[in-house]
Amino acid sequence: MAADRSVEALTAAGAAQELARLAAEIEEHDAAYYQDDAPLISDADYDALRQRNNAIEARFPELKRSDSPSERVGAAPSTAFGKIEHAVPMLSLGNAFNNDDVVDFDGRIRRFLNLEAEAELRFTSEPKIDGLSASLRYEKGVLVQGATRGDGRVGEDITANLRTLPDIPHKLPTGVPDIVEVRGEVYMSHADFAALNKRQQEKGGKIFANPRNAAAGSLRQLDVEVTKKRPLKFFAYAWGEMSAMPSDTQTGMMACFTDWGFSVNPAFITVDETQGLLAHWTAIEGQRAALGYEIDGMVYKVDRLDYQQRLGFVSRAPRWAIAHKFPAEQATTKVNDIDIQVGRTGALTPVAKLEPITVGGVVVSNATLHNADEIARKDIRVGDMVVIQRAGDVIPQVVRVLSEHRDSQSSPFAFPDKCPACGSPAMREIRDDGEADVVTRCSAGLTCPAQAREGLKHFVSRAALDIEGLGQKQIDDYWQLGLIRSPQDIFALEAHFADNPPEIWQYTSGAKDKIGTLKDSARKLFKAIEMRKTADLDRYIFALGIRHIGETSARLLARHYMSLPAMMQAAQNMAGGDEGARGEIEALDGVGKALVDALIGFFSSPDNCTVVSALIAAGIDPTPPEAVATDTAIAGKTIVFTGTLEKMTRAEAKARAEAMGAKVVGSVSAKTDILVAGPGAGSKLTKATELGVEVLTEDQWVALATA
Ligand code: IVH
Repeated sequence: MAADRSVEALTAAGAAQELARLAAEIEEHDAAYYQDDAPLISDADYDALRQRNNAIEARFPELKRSDSPSERVGAAPSTAFGKIEHAVPMLSLGNAFNNDDVVDFDGRIRRFLNLEAEAELRFTSEPKIDGLSASLRYEKGVLVQGATRGDGRVGEDITANLRTLPDIPHKLPTGVPDIVEVRGEVYMSHADFAALNKRQQEKGGKIFANPRNAAAGSLRQLDVEVTKKRPLKFFAYAWGEMSAMPSDTQTGMMACFTDWGFSVNPAFITVDETQGLLAHWTAIEGQRAALGYEIDGMVYKVDRLDYQQRLGFVSRAPRWAIAHKFPAEQATTKVNDIDIQVGRTGALTPVAKLEPITVGGVVVSNATLHNADEIARKDIRVGDMVVIQRAGDVIPQVVRVLSEHRDSQSSPFAFPDKCPACGSPAMREIRDDGEADVVTRCSAGLTCPAQAREGLKHFVSRAALDIEGLGQKQIDDYWQLGLIRSPQDIFALEAHFADNPPEIWQYTSGAKDKIGTLKDSARKLFKAIEMRKTADLDRYIFALGIRHIGETSARLLARHYMSLPAMMQAAQNMAGGDEGARGEIEALDGVGKALVDALIGFFSSPDNCTVVSALIAAGIDPTPPEAVATDTAIAGKTIVFTGTLEKMTRAEAKARAEAMGAKVVGSVSAKTDILVAGPGAGSKLTKATELGVEVLTEDQWVALATA
């Protein structure tokens, strides 16, 4: 720190450089302290680094980095764990926010299963633990593997860490199935969390912001001895691969877990109608503060496993379960400032910088203000006292201003009409209905550095390319160095490295005296980049950041087009008026007009076409999806359902057909292979007969689907 200039003397450019250096340096010390348990500097020196970082941020708030040490909580994640592919994916849950949503959940299930309103449909109910999920694999009764959820398909191998939890048996009783995967939540109690933070404070260690972060930071430790000292607990609530099922109900499975030595939440109950779920929700909400650990709602599951099986999944959540959330927790604090952030689509998002405050166990220092209208409607001003709320992982929000506390000198917030990142005019688009859009957008497109940089962060994000060692922070670093300014630059990094090695080595971890390790980490990064050249096509499609194309529609498009050039060509044909190509894709269930317009719009920009072509020229070779099933009678065929189905609901029929590798569309055309026509079929049946499309009765379809 010899070269430190006084914060007052720094120019903006100097400050940006300094913040980059401090972020890297503090991260290195955090890793040494938390992961290696071997601090490199004294606590006082460490504090001085953080104080300098904070002082520079206070003077140049607009230069605050997304990976700023002042925002970082919990131990830095490690990349040192091995990967484990889950035999059965680890899913998330849909949400219910009120009683009506729960009644709808029950109704949806009954419709899907074709159950009468009076037919018995039992549910289980238990608290939703706010921790992190883990999967434990037992082979012949012996714990052989423990993994984090990761992205749901691939998690991290934390077997050794999980073995240290007293709630996790290393051996199961004799007689259990050969393969058993028990899943549940690792969490830390409020009391243990407070005690841990007290110990951390005494030794000058990091203070965890909430029990969930403390649990995550404690579990993902490279040094198992550290995990062992941390008071982590585990509740079992689900399973993955099972070579045999010991029960045919959720309730029975929980009883087995208890017999096998796992903890199941004591509040777990089984009810025979939704009224029971709602009563349980109210009861547990009343006990929430006294439970001693964080919960953010209740989870309801269909009890019968044969029903669960039939209901299956939509996207990444089961149809047979739902999380009924508790209302957000609120607190009062002061708005110190209002910042404007520029997103990857150019949207200017105002963010309230708050006096930090704890809300429901979490320290909150930012709240989203959404847009100019929202600020005007609530008349939120710098200096105001406001009520804020947070619910789970949702970004905290400002509920209202306490205007009786307002400073008489304050004036309404003036929303900028220029992009704070590039100075270009920022405007609200005029929508089709002639009204101004709520979003103020920078007009510069990819020439705005903030948009381009955010686009790159999206490109490498978890659901997109997910390149190990190239996250948000590294994108910022490489951007600042001018090395990555467009997606294709990622694939040219190694070539640049060959030309200018020392520069990259330094920036890969921010230290100069460890060239050996740096070389290794650079090599690792290039290998990771190389490997992702063949990432799944749907990830590449999602990564492009086309408006309206999320993970689910990216999968649909991948299955339809099977390659990027084919998709780009089709978009260009559609722009040129090819109605056939347009009709074909709009017919896909889950694709709408807005999506198709966005797809065409994206490829009408020469800049975007250049990026895609450059990616292909850089050697990317996305892996097209495999058909879900290829060995069924309807794999690869296009099916339309029409009329009333009596043996199976439409949703179930569609899910079944897709699982068998068919494409389900809404209207009959020459490309349709099969029309399933129940009673009451009308014009679609006529058209199919005209076109010579094969027509099946419902019985014939059921025979095919259950063959
Ligand atoms: S069941 C296929 N039950 O919530 C069903 N999940 O938002 C999978 N969670 O990833 C989940 N408590 O980490 C279930 N009692 C509970 C839970 C629970 C917490 C977590 C879990 C899951 C997330 C979904």
